[in-house]
Amino acid sequence: GTAGAVVGARLSENPNFKVLVLEAGTDAPNTPAWNVPVYAPQPAFGPEGPGLWRYQSEPQVGLNNRTVAFPRGKVVGGTSMINFMCYTRGSFEEYDRIANITGDQRWSWDNILSFSKKVRT
Ligand SMILES: *[C@@H]1O[C@H](CO)[C@@H](O)[C@H](O)[C@H]1NC(C)=O
Ligand SMILES: *[C@@H]1O[C@H](CO)[C@@H](O)[C@H](O)[C@H]1NC(C)=O
Repeated sequence: GTAGAVVGARLSENPNFKVLVLEAGTDAPNTPAWNVPVYAPQPAFGPEGPGLWRYQSEPQVGLNNRTVAFPRGKVVGGTSMINFMCYTRGSFEEYDRIANITGDQRWSWDNILSFSKKVRT
């Protein structure tokens, strides 16, 4: 998906590397409905369609042990192709918690924010 493309592009900046990016799944169909990436109504993403990795969470104790669907895009473009090309940035607490857990303050909100802003188009 898009993250793999970014990593591939960055790696290819080093002239010592040749980079091949592979993507599982199929091309998105070239139909008008695909002009806007849409997750739910597309046949490719229906119950029998090829366009999804159908992950399920582990049972969630806080949800009476229900599992939660966690679909990922099995299509060129990856999950970005099925999530309306939207993303949300995590909260500052999430990044600071990652920094604390890893002991690496480069993951802190204050350090991540400038990189996160680079994503905007
Ligand atoms: C959820 O699963 C845990 C671990 O198996 C169990 O102890 C708990 O009773 C379960 N809760 C419900 C609401 O079924
Ligand atoms: C991270 O660690 C700092 C320093 O101990 C603490 O003040 C802060 O509350 C922690 N943040 C999170 C989200 O765990």
